[in-house]
Amino acid sequence: MRVLISFIVLIALGGVNSEEKWWSTLSLYQIYPRSFKDSNGDGVGDIKGIIDNLEHLVDSKVNAFWMSPVYPSPGVDMGYDISNFVDIDPLFGSLTDFDNLLEKAHGLDLKVLMDFVPNHSSDQHEWFQKSVKNILPYNNYYIWANGSIKEDGTRAPPNNWVSVFGGPAWTWNDQRQAYYLHQFAPQQPDLNYRYENLRREMENVLRFWLDRGVDGFRIDAVNHVFEIQSLQDEPLSGDTNDPNNYGYLDHIYTKDQPECYKLVGEWRKVLEEYNKNGGHERLMAMEAYTDINLTMRYYESGASFPFNFGFIQRLRNDSSPNDFKSVIDEWMERMPDGSVANWVIGNHDQKRVASRYGVERAPGIVALLHLLPGVLVTYNGDEIDMPDNYVSWEQGKDPQGCNAGRQRFEAASRDPFRTPFLWDGTTSAGFSTNPITWLPVNPDYKTLNLEVQKNSGDSQFKFYQAIAELRAWPAAKNGDLHTYVINNNIFAISRALKSQRSIYLVLNFGNEVLNLDLTEKIENMSEELIIYRGTVNSGLPPGSKINPKSAEIPARGAVIYVAPEMSRNYGVVML
Ligand code: GLC
Repeated sequence: MRVLISFIVLIALGGVNSEEKWWSTLSLYQIYPRSFKDSNGDGVGDIKGIIDNLEHLVDSKVNAFWMSPVYPSPGVDMGYDISNFVDIDPLFGSLTDFDNLLEKAHGLDLKVLMDFVPNHSSDQHEWFQKSVKNILPYNNYYIWANGSIKEDGTRAPPNNWVSVFGGPAWTWNDQRQAYYLHQFAPQQPDLNYRYENLRREMENVLRFWLDRGVDGFRIDAVNHVFEIQSLQDEPLSGDTNDPNNYGYLDHIYTKDQPECYKLVGEWRKVLEEYNKNGGHERLMAMEAYTDINLTMRYYESGASFPFNFGFIQRLRNDSSPNDFKSVIDEWMERMPDGSVANWVIGNHDQKRVASRYGVERAPGIVALLHLLPGVLVTYNGDEIDMPDNYVSWEQGKDPQGCNAGRQRFEAASRDPFRTPFLWDGTTSAGFSTNPITWLPVNPDYKTLNLEVQKNSGDSQFKFYQAIAELRAWPAAKNGDLHTYVINNNIFAISRALKSQRSIYLVLNFGNEVLNLDLTEKIENMSEELIIYRGTVNSGLPPGSKINPKSAEIPARGAVIYVAPEMSRNYGVVML
């Protein structure tokens, strides 16, 4: 079917990566250690499991990984409640295991980023235990306030603030006779960054891991670190009537405070101590769910980049080509000059890409992110198109889900995004020798797993590898980016060096195969193109020639073309 072209949108998004840094075109992979690989059969992933499987990252053409927390923790928020910032939880191994991991990773040319969680510690941390007892200087390490006594004689917290996981952001402590602030679970008391000693203490945490040799940090929930000092009530958002729901308030006093950016600058100074004497620049990637203006400010604060959550927060399986175009163009246009873009597909807090966009559409989206300029961030499992897995209320572990109660558990829980990686068709998908795992293994694992995909000629993993290889081509690394809305269902990008477009990705969001004349919207196309890859089951033979005036794009799929001269330069086999 020939499609009438109804929109012409073409914006040259300019040269990319004027100044090359070692991480400018990084493929960054997130390992969720609990679910990556269990080496000792206790049903929980661990560091040795990661060491034994680092080759998988090399196979996936990844250059670096960040790991969710492996520090000592009671596990209330799955490791984001840290009781010692400078050690490894025995559940995951030891500091020696960690050093071995670093050594092997570096030997494989993989860079390693730790997850730095500045906003809070666990209530089991020695600092909090001492703060509760009012011991100097720890008495100031957390945020304490008196609250008030109501007319009926009961206690009331200092203000109306609500925690991210639901319920009041203040918990009364009998021993200290005061309330403490926690933006997340009550077992995650907020640290007090207005206190100089605490700031220095956390800088030493950074130095501890830098001294061991890490290449940088993913910084957790950075925009929650400061709150307004006056502790005034937050205004109601009007979105819900439930005062225990985080969405009840407009978080103008507990999020995105200007001091957050200054703090990032202080951390950068610490990181810079390590690139003196020829050391490589250490990376700092910020997790801050906020609006585009506030996000962009991290670029100038000392961060390498703020995570770009556009593909997670603003796009879904029913988004239009226009929606995709505006998410991509906006980031490229708003980014300060000389900065490096980044694109996040998934993480342990969000529905998996295969569940957000559907298992058929997701591979095309994953390819799109690979072919955009800058850093790509994938979440373990996305390379095999793993969808979310059902986790019942009884099996639930995530405090965000459990606190929401049985009725709202499924809507609120992040457990389905965190279930074990599917390695092969053996017990527990090869994740563990134990048939019981900390979260349930996807029941489809016999057919949906990495090994099956490695052994198949046409699989998501093979497609992922091919796209990852294409990402290393000079045009994908440094070429200009153009984005095109071809029609209501078709979105395309091109990457080109010196105005000679050489890589094209065309995505079909619709439910029918389309035959298109790409030249009507995309200028300067050569008379023929070479199919580099089509998404799984497209039946499009890699290396075959097509006429761009009649390009077939599979339903819910994508095709990547390269210009003939490029395919010759880079050894694509022509059919
Ligand atoms: C971040 C983490 C999330 C955690 C929260 C509190 O958003 O990604 O998993 O629950 O911070 O530390």
